[in-house]
Amino acid sequence: MSVAVRLHVNIDHVATLRNARGTSYPDPVRAAEASLRAGAHGITAHLREDRRHIRDEDVANLRRVLTGATFNLEMAATEEMVGIALNTKPDVVTLVPERREERTTEGGLAVVGNEPMLRGMTRRLVDAGIRVSYFIAPVNEEIDASLACGATQIELHTGEYAHEKSGEFARLGVAARYAHAKGLEVAAGHGLTVANVPALVAIQEIVELNIGHAIIADSVFQSLDGAVKAMLQAIAVGLTLRGSR
Ligand code: PXP
Repeated sequence: MSVAVRLHVNIDHVATLRNARGTSYPDPVRAAEASLRAGAHGITAHLREDRRHIRDEDVANLRRVLTGATFNLEMAATEEMVGIALNTKPDVVTLVPERREERTTEGGLAVVGNEPMLRGMTRRLVDAGIRVSYFIAPVNEEIDASLACGATQIELHTGEYAHEKSGEFARLGVAARYAHAKGLEVAAGHGLTVANVPALVAIQEIVELNIGHAIIADSVFQSLDGAVKAMLQAIAVGLTLRGSR
């Protein structure tokens, strides 16, 4: 299996299921381990301010077990979250926008207009040895601002692509090429499924996908192992499309 595109499995919704009944199972850490055994390259978890799925102890436990794989902690750009990241030391922090009433992360981080705050936070994380990625819309001004604030990676928001918004695939391609040319690593995520991943992976600047909902949903019918392997297969199909468009 080629590793030209890394798959990071977001295990938030394993915690959602656990929390729905107030039990200790299913354990997101166990899901992380199973995902890695199936071939995923890393694990992503979003510690939301309301702790609706992942909790502080999950973050600590994930850090403890994820020694040979990348641990990507998604979080809002707040002092509380920066403190947790500095204590836990994930490999990567992805800064995301967050509103309490939203169902999932809607829209990208507003980097433009928040540069002084984001630059300061990013510096503190980078100084602690943590790589910093910004989850942004595919807009050149946001890419420029991300670079100026010290991010080394951007994650392009694929929510509109997943909703089949016209022109969005082209917009993602333009943004990926622009960011790559400026020296940023390009990840993508949100709303990705085995059906829409191959076409996206044809964009050759994309080196990482963060995928949660669809993998956890598919695991209901196929096992988590099967769902992760099916997503890796979808990525492999996408890699064969590179250069053909
Ligand atoms: N990337 C980021 C930054 C996200 O906030 C999310 C949702 O938590 C995802 C990827 C995964 O999205 P989905 O669950 O739709 O695959």
